[in-house]
Amino acid sequence: MDSLIVRGGHRLDGTLRASGSKNAALPIMAATLLAQGVCRLERIPVLRDIATMLTLLSSLGATVSRAADGGVRIECDQACEVTAPYDLVKTMRASILVLGPLLARHGKAAVSFPGGCAIGSRPVDLHIQALEAMGAAISIEGGYILAEAPDGLLGTDFTFDITTVGGTENAVMAASLANGTTVLRNVAREPEIVDLVQFLRSMGAEITGEGTDILTIRGVPCLTGGTYSVMPDRIEVGTYLVAAAATGGRVRMTDIDPSVLGVITDKLRSAGASVREGDQWVECEMDGKRPQAVDIMTEPFPGFPTDMQAQFTALNAVAQGEARVTETVFENRLMQAHEMRRMGAHIVIEGNTAIISGQPSLQGAPVMASDLRASASLVIAGLVASGETRIDRIYHIDRGYENIEGNLQSLGADIQRVSG
Ligand code: UD1
Repeated sequence: MDSLIVRGGHRLDGTLRASGSKNAALPIMAATLLAQGVCRLERIPVLRDIATMLTLLSSLGATVSRAADGGVRIECDQACEVTAPYDLVKTMRASILVLGPLLARHGKAAVSFPGGCAIGSRPVDLHIQALEAMGAAISIEGGYILAEAPDGLLGTDFTFDITTVGGTENAVMAASLANGTTVLRNVAREPEIVDLVQFLRSMGAEITGEGTDILTIRGVPCLTGGTYSVMPDRIEVGTYLVAAAATGGRVRMTDIDPSVLGVITDKLRSAGASVREGDQWVECEMDGKRPQAVDIMTEPFPGFPTDMQAQFTALNAVAQGEARVTETVFENRLMQAHEMRRMGAHIVIEGNTAIISGQPSLQGAPVMASDLRASASLVIAGLVASGETRIDRIYHIDRGYENIEGNLQSLGADIQRVSG
């Protein structure tokens, strides 16, 4: 199993190009199940979760291939299988995103029930409720969600009890091929949902309201393939900007519209960083200063993203002052704090809040990655710590960061991947 060895103490300095967004690419790849003809998707990152989704689509009968330029070609015309098996779903929860498309296209689907995961119980009841409101009959048998709508789905008016990103994605994909108009209320407004809607529209879907909390979808009889370029990864970009701020350095990220970063840049400024933005670039510069402590509370978009919480925990661990980091989206997403304590961080957990007293320095230690973003935060902690940090279970990071060690090396970090 691979590990990362980080020798801290180097200020990051340099420029990186933003990758395509994992969290936009996965639902968009699932949505190709709705299309007749070939879909060419550009700017698909090279990540373990993307490979898993390609495997899932080909197990459903799709023809998939990767081009050398980072693009992916997917053709689902021969995709007649409707079962997403346990072995794939257990390695990637986003597999649940094929439920809505399979049901809408084939009138039935069987998707292994995703269990809990390291960051919480993560139920899918709202995905199921939305599809039931469209007329699907759904049961749970043998660990599988079995869904049927032999005469097709019907337009409906449905309100989500809680704002759910995945639930919104499943519902909007299914409604695209339903008979009649669907109104979805209290939907998630994340930029990745806007990207999915734009992709569906490019295939012929009739949808309005993306980026607001109401989506209106007029069902159409069929969708057709085409070419689409996935949005940049705002969480990857945010992670490198936080790494710049934590190490007192300067990092410029290109190929990204800075407006998608929203509150991430506001919080970096509150931490004392100078953040400059231009046409398709953003730069964070700390000029050797120690960051100021910055309070965080995670919320659905446009609030502070849960996927950036762990990275700001690392920043606060070496900041001047005391910060409160509160996680409201998932119940068990402060795991990184325990590992950071092993590196000398002063963090007390009270309920869903980490109270962090910033220290002038951290000390390298062997630590263990528990989930994707927690792994990224341990890398940041390692970059600022004195001595050597060994991060085990690094397969988590390969789910969501393309070539993280190569990118950080190009910014001047001392980081290596080792096997075994
Ligand atoms: C969430 C994040 C998303 C992030 C992703 C990966 C939010 C709102 N969503 O998306 O930004 O990229 O994790 O880290 O920040 N819930 C239910 N029933 C359901 C579905 C969800 O109770 O059927 C609850 C969840 O337990 C959670 C909340 O709703 O407390 C939001 O979950 P959801 O947005 O669905 O999670 P993801 O789609 O995984």
